Amino acid sequence: MTIGIMGLGYVGLPLAVAFAEEGHCVVALDTDARKIEALRERRSYVEDIPSERLAAVADRIEPTRHAQPLARCDAVLICVPTPLTPNREPDLGPLVSATRALSGVLQSGQLVVIESTTYPGTTRETVAPILEESGLLAGRDFHLAFSPERVDPGRTDYTLRTTPKIVGGLTEACADRAVALYDFVCDHIVRVSTPDAAELSKLLENIFRSVNIALVNEMALLADRMGIDIWEVVDAAATKPYGFMRFDPGPGMGGHCLPVDPFYLSWRAREFDMTAEFIELAGKVNQNMPYHCVARIERVLNDAAKPVRGSRIAIFGVSYKAGVGDLRESPALKIIEVLSGLGADIVYHDPHVPELSEFSLRNVSADEALDGADLAVIVTAHPGVDHDGIVERAPRALDLRGVTRRQADVRSTVQL
Ligand SMILES: NC(=O)c1ccc[n+]([C@@H]2O[C@H](COP(=O)([O-])OP(=O)(O)OC[C@H]3O[C@@H](n4cnc5c(N)ncnc54)[C@H](O)[C@@H]3O)[C@@H](O)[C@H]2O)c1
Repeated sequence: MTIGIMGLGYVGLPLAVAFAEEGHCVVALDTDARKIEALRERRSYVEDIPSERLAAVADRIEPTRHAQPLARCDAVLICVPTPLTPNREPDLGPLVSATRALSGVLQSGQLVVIESTTYPGTTRETVAPILEESGLLAGRDFHLAFSPERVDPGRTDYTLRTTPKIVGGLTEACADRAVALYDFVCDHIVRVSTPDAAELSKLLENIFRSVNIALVNEMALLADRMGIDIWEVVDAAATKPYGFMRFDPGPGMGGHCLPVDPFYLSWRAREFDMTAEFIELAGKVNQNMPYHCVARIERVLNDAAKPVRGSRIAIFGVSYKAGVGDLRESPALKIIEVLSGLGADIVYHDPHVPELSEFSLRNVSADEALDGADLAVIVTAHPGVDHDGIVERAPRALDLRGVTRRQADVRSTVQL
């Protein structure tokens, strides 16, 4: 088969490689010239896909910035971003423009699958009509389905193949086609009755995480006031073998998904005279966490009779999660922004992030970061970084991830 993939990012590139590894040809379309250039040079820019893995199948991947080659594909998967506008409403701009480009070359008999996370109704109400501008009818002349992506960057215990894949087709025949396609790269396909159900299932997964993270973050704030160690509490609660699922507190939510996707649903809910209270509340609690962390930093410095202004603060880990370099919506950026605004002298160490150009900062070694530092703050705990050693060597430290809490001689302030 020949499979077209529109949007070669964290979602699209692993899919392209997976289909190519199964012997299929892939037309890889992206509007970003740098990504197309990298693919032509067989160079991966997604951490989970080593360049060697890409290079091994690169002969079957045709990078392009043009829609025309999609005309000869059996199926086209759309994996473009679905961000929020500056006033936090769904921005379907990239999805609409990708769909419009595809519509111009759409062929009878093709299968189109949307993978981008979006609110229920997008596939039927937005994507289908644009594709039908081709003169072809969805469900009759071409097949259309929604299949949400569940990739979790940095995760190695579950892969594209071993993570069940949800598929909802516009018609039964649409779903049949999509199931047959994903059968090549996924062991287990979960079929739902409509694209809308598939769209909402993805949002439920992300909102579940967002709400539970907010809950444990709120508990952390309360535990801090009560003088109780939240990590001890979470560790204890997590020993219950049923009815409890562990979530850890932290400096806030980051990445492309959790800080963004829930608001797609709360926006859509308003059309149905509903206010999605859990979503809004969780968003509020989680968005406040970086500010709480700054207040915590101020307290630690205050205890040492130091103002933030002029203090040298070493930040450890600036990406949004451990083991990856993704900076999107990273709470570390907000913490650095606020501290810089207060006049702090910031340095950072993050083996995954060579520079933070918006702050004119470059990654320095852990030793260099600690040199002359008044405070070390562990914001994201990357594997391979000696956090116990950092806490030992820093004059004072704040561990926002609780990774040094078991250290015998804890000089860090372990709570959030
Ligand atoms: N990153 C994740 O962990 C993850 C997980 C599950 C779902 N998702 C969802 O998948 C979608 C893609 O996310 P991502 O993380 O891969 O984004 P990304 O930004 O890494 O990649 C998207 C790519 O699409 C390209 N693009 C933008 N407009 C285009 C257009 N009109 N035509 C062709 N290409 C275009 C961009 O240049 C970029 O390379 C989003 O809806 C996201 O919510 C992401």
